[in-house]
Amino acid sequence: MSLLTPVIQQPAKAVRKFNVDEVRKDFPILFEKVNGQPLVYLDNGATSQKPQSVIDSIENYYSHTNSNVHRGAHALSDQATELFENARTKVQHFIHAKYREEIIWTRGTTEAINLVAQTWGRKNISQNDEIIVSTLEHHSNIVPWQLLCEETGAKLQVINIHPNGELDFEHFKTLVNKNTKLIAIGHISNALGVINPIEKVIAFAKKFDCKVLIDGAQAAPHLNIDVTALDCDFYALSGHKMFSPTGIGILYGKQELLNAMPPWHGGGEMIEKVSFEKTTFNKLPYKFEAGTPNIEGSIALGAAIDYLSQFNRDDLTRYEEELIEYATEKAQHFEGLKIIGSDCNKTSVLSFVIDGLHSQDVGMILDQQGIAVRTGHHCAMPLMQALGLNGTIRASFSFYNTKQEVDLLFSGLEKARMFLS
Ligand code: ALA
Repeated sequence: MSLLTPVIQQPAKAVRKFNVDEVRKDFPILFEKVNGQPLVYLDNGATSQKPQSVIDSIENYYSHTNSNVHRGAHALSDQATELFENARTKVQHFIHAKYREEIIWTRGTTEAINLVAQTWGRKNISQNDEIIVSTLEHHSNIVPWQLLCEETGAKLQVINIHPNGELDFEHFKTLVNKNTKLIAIGHISNALGVINPIEKVIAFAKKFDCKVLIDGAQAAPHLNIDVTALDCDFYALSGHKMFSPTGIGILYGKQELLNAMPPWHGGGEMIEKVSFEKTTFNKLPYKFEAGTPNIEGSIALGAAIDYLSQFNRDDLTRYEEELIEYATEKAQHFEGLKIIGSDCNKTSVLSFVIDGLHSQDVGMILDQQGIAVRTGHHCAMPLMQALGLNGTIRASFSFYNTKQEVDLLFSGLEKARMFLS
């Protein structure tokens, strides 16, 4: 009999009307000055800013509840455990998982992917097996698989992209065969903002009975995620990209897969019984949660989900679409600017190069004006190689950004051009 209890989906209570000026007041850092200028924060792909309610949840935890979870025979420990486990349930509802035990706390997406590679991968992948990734992947969804392939003799296959940055789905179809054991693919490209057709990828993978892992780091802050409807096998996300602290994230896995996987890190909490002769392991999700977890991070991730749940998510998505359309329109009229990742299904990222200007120099001049963007390869070196670029300038937006900030970006770029050409 399964130890897991199905939990009925709770519809989020969307009660707050979205208004960007009001929302900005929730994020104290947006009122900071950087280099003497009001901050224009357009580096949300790297990490998001945090609302006051998330910051407060950490302060409250340490001021009133701090204690270890699942261990103490005292009231504070019980309270901490309740907050910690409630946060797991919030994540479960947020991604529409069937069971709360399918949510494993990790340090973030990178650790979640490594967990799958080192446990499911080591058990299920052997010589002549194939793992498919795409050209668009972040290093976090390439290197763990390369390490596994080196260890097992399996082969890494790579899906091509079209020149506009879109996944070449026809090429993908030619790569899948009876040796394919896993497809590991990003939901949204961090470097270009391109949304991959993961529904189609998963449907096709099912015909060959191979598993699919989705790197959802960039999707969680922008899209509604429904792992049950997607029917993916694994989904990974990071708290810090979705308005909560660094060092917390989750791995979602289907319960039958997680149950069959060997543990990864050994230590406290993940055990059932330890003796020098034999150790047996705890049930899900604790089997994968050795050591004292990031308790305040989990609680704060729950607070971020509460924050997001006040709104109708479609309102946020629509607003972000308007912003990226506005930015794209401006970019199209900026002389010498080339958008990388255009005319495709994308979200909240404007990645570009400007003729004759080095991305890093442009980033520096923007920074002097208080405008934060990321420049370079964005931890996606193979993608840059495929595009024939050293790097791009990436402005990545969130729902607290404004059209005025987009205007400031483009006046900042004009200044950069004046200084640098
Ligand atoms: N993965 C993060 C980014 O895209 C750090 O910037």
